[in-house]
Amino acid sequence: MAQDLFDAAFAAMQKCHAPYSKFPVGAALRTKDGRIYSGCNIEVISFPEGWCAETTMLSHYVMDGGGEIAEILVMAEKLEKCSPCGGCRQRLAEFAGADVPLHLCDSSGVVQTVTMRELLPFSFQTDVIG
Ligand code: THU
Repeated sequence: MAQDLFDAAFAAMQKCHAPYSKFPVGAALRTKDGRIYSGCNIEVISFPEGWCAETTMLSHYVMDGGGEIAEILVMAEKLEKCSPCGGCRQRLAEFAGADVPLHLCDSSGVVQTVTMRELLPFSFQTDVIG
């Protein structure tokens, strides 16, 4: 994992809007053609209306045209390693293939790397829709 991906997630984490949980999260992904997109968690006083760092990151990625994802990185200021929540696993799996590595980090570096397959085994898939 190159430092630039970590730095992007770290910078995003500093921008979090998390006045209620006080739990800053940052995420970043790299596309195969070298673009980096990042995101932070954004909370709302009506608590269920907030969303995760991974979701912000995916919004930037989709709005800029998407493309093949090479790697993903997630970090939380207050956890040794931040593993994406269930909803974000499904969102990430929408765009990242089963072999894409996801780096789980703390504020100083990568603690563990897993694949999307490991993160979301037996995910919802069907060819009946669409
Ligand atoms: N959070 C994320 O941003 N990503 C996750 O995968 C887990 C949780 C955020 C949501 C909320 O703003 C805060 O962490 C506490 O749950």
